[in-house]
Amino acid sequence: MQSDKQETIVIHSDRPHNESQSVSPPIFQTTTYAADTAEEFVEMATRPHHPQFYTRYGNPNSAQAESIIADLEGAESALVAATGMGAITTAVMTLVNSGDHIVAQESLYAGTLSLLEKLLPRYGVEVTFVDQANVAAFEAALRPNTRLIITETPSNPLMKLTDLRAIAAMAQARNITTIADNTFATPVNQRPIELAIDLVVHSATKYLGGHADLMAGVVAGKREMLERVWNTLIILGATLNGFDSWLLVRGLRTLPLRVQKHNDNAAAIAQFLAAHPQVDAVHYPGLETHPQYSLAKTQMHGFGGMLSFQVRGGYAATDRFMSGLKLIARAASLGGIHSLIVHPAAMWAGYFSEQGLLEKGILPNLVRLSVGIEDADDLVADIGTALDGIN
Ligand SMILES: Cc1ncc(COP(=O)(O)O)c(C=O)c1O
Repeated sequence: MQSDKQETIVIHSDRPHNESQSVSPPIFQTTTYAADTAEEFVEMATRPHHPQFYTRYGNPNSAQAESIIADLEGAESALVAATGMGAITTAVMTLVNSGDHIVAQESLYAGTLSLLEKLLPRYGVEVTFVDQANVAAFEAALRPNTRLIITETPSNPLMKLTDLRAIAAMAQARNITTIADNTFATPVNQRPIELAIDLVVHSATKYLGGHADLMAGVVAGKREMLERVWNTLIILGATLNGFDSWLLVRGLRTLPLRVQKHNDNAAAIAQFLAAHPQVDAVHYPGLETHPQYSLAKTQMHGFGGMLSFQVRGGYAATDRFMSGLKLIARAASLGGIHSLIVHPAAMWAGYFSEQGLLEKGILPNLVRLSVGIEDADDLVADIGTALDGIN
């Protein structure tokens, strides 16, 4: 039975890739597979992305995760990788050659920025960065040799949005490939391929895995393009192993349930923070005060579990707030069942000057919260007590 309901997809879309009778798929903890005949071996060795040839080329557990993710994203095909950065680097390296130009939004995950700013220029690829909220700036930055547009929405940590529909239409008219990092939104809240974006990438380390216990990445899109990405993946070697693919499938089973709870909890916390005298500003696309709220409503199906806010006071007051939290842990990463918080001005102090941080909109009193699936009242109480304890 085929279903387009995400709750059914996450439980059943892997079935054609599970040849055993076990309800939970077995883990293929092997590097290689035996063939009975020369013909069979030739088929295993030459069919692209064969799940049972050599694990750098594919694995049945990876094929299961890929079929679920492809159906969730509404993509023809998907490919898992060892990390989100493995997926992003592999996709980008597939699509550009020396002499090409990329247009990318300024606000991107730090690893993606490093790829574009530090690695690609060494191979003769130029990048222009633009404000993600300004569609005209993307268009103005295009050159005859622009091959790729890279977006990420909502972005980290200020929760700014990129108008994917507008960017995709502009790029399609010029035969330029588009990539959207859908990590923050998840395919439950946003499906870029439905908006005509070519490739979706994820850090599956975050919501798709969902339990802060695995590293993985995803590229999803058209079958022909994914086959090219796979050819790069087996060269770069950013392969996801069988056990982590199995864990990813296990995480995906509850993605729609978890994301619903993340959305509800984040909305409750955003409302609470917006009314709190110890808070200067809240950045959450589900608040009517978000400058792109109308875009959020037309582009997203839910507003997500990520938000950031500014504590009244400076760096020290913000640090006292962070230290006052009892349930919510001070930890990097996001998108898991546990609520986690970071103070970006502290986390990035070693990478950027104070001025550099300010230019990126990272004020000393900004905190980023990845809202978990604990009880909403308990989370609100934890935040409220820590805010009240600042002074
Ligand atoms: C939006 C986004 N994209 C990509 C990545 C990179 O993913 P990974 O750490 O799995 O390589 C991250 C990691 O934090 C991220 O937040």
